[in-house]
Amino acid sequence: MAKIYGVVSTKGGVGKTSFSAQFGGILADMGQRVLLVDADFQQSLSRYYIVDNPAKHGLRKLVTSADSVDCISKTHINNLDIVLSDDPTQKLLEWLRESINHSFYLTAGLKKINDDYDYIIIDSQGARGIFQESIIMSCNELISPIVPEFLDSQEFMRGTVEMLKSLEPADGIGIPMPNIPTLTGLIYKQDRTVDAQTIAGALRKKFYSASDGKIRILSAYIPMMASYKQASARRLPVHRVEVRRRSNSPTPSAYDSYLAVVHELLPHLSDVEPTWAGNGNSSASTTAKQAEA
Ligand SMILES: Nc1ncnc2c1ncn2[C@@H]1O[C@H](COP(=O)(O)OP(=O)(O)O)[C@@H](O)[C@H]1O
Ligand SMILES: [Mg+2]
Repeated sequence: MAKIYGVVSTKGGVGKTSFSAQFGGILADMGQRVLLVDADFQQSLSRYYIVDNPAKHGLRKLVTSADSVDCISKTHINNLDIVLSDDPTQKLLEWLRESINHSFYLTAGLKKINDDYDYIIIDSQGARGIFQESIIMSCNELISPIVPEFLDSQEFMRGTVEMLKSLEPADGIGIPMPNIPTLTGLIYKQDRTVDAQTIAGALRKKFYSASDGKIRILSAYIPMMASYKQASARRLPVHRVEVRRRSNSPTPSAYDSYLAVVHELLPHLSDVEPTWAGNGNSSASTTAKQAEA
């Protein structure tokens, strides 16, 4: 049965799409069957990986018919499929507003393909609204990238955390508790000048208590990576592009950073390392050296 992750934040530009692409890419290279769902009308995730033969349909049919037939495309990465975003004019929003039931179609559609995948990762747009809520209801866990600057962390508290709280029915109303997934924060685009662990520690303390223990901040973090641009230009997962850094580099490589995130989120995969064609041979190490430059 697939575990469904929603990558959410009420703020744009924090790394949702990049995290979705990289997390999906490394899990696929770890032998997991992964489905990416691009639920952002901006279609950035749909453009990340190469898709040679796009399926006839994509997000719109999945969400409006609760059926994934002809909605899933194969990427050129083994084990990695994607539901492409095909709703640039946001028609889905009108459809979702037509009936309260429509909010549950995505959950129903994903349920039907639950056994085909180990992980389903849904990238969302940086906004609060009916579509975001529909995504949240369909997930087991939410991941929210947080850029460790004061304003971004304030926005995380005010926006993302408040949105989750607003989905919980008030005590005494008698409405059964909907499925509200746990929220995991991931320090993203950490730059070298600040100590990641100090910031992670401070955020962890602040959010954990403010959320009655429902939010955790991972110890693993994703540094600012020059190799990210190179990876997206080559349409490859970044762990393949920057395998190692110089031995004296204080910052972990893309490979080490993403592997640490996977191992912390999914401890049962701690013995698994990613593999791909060319891994470990001279071309992989050359690429790693180029990425450092
Ligand atoms: N680890 C990283 N290091 C440096 N830049 C990054 C990293 N991850 C993403 N970026 C850049 O940050 C910007 C925003 O990322 P994106 O994933 O599109 O955010 P969102 O989906 O939340 O809007 C993009 O320009 C992307 O190239
Ligand atoms: Mg995005």
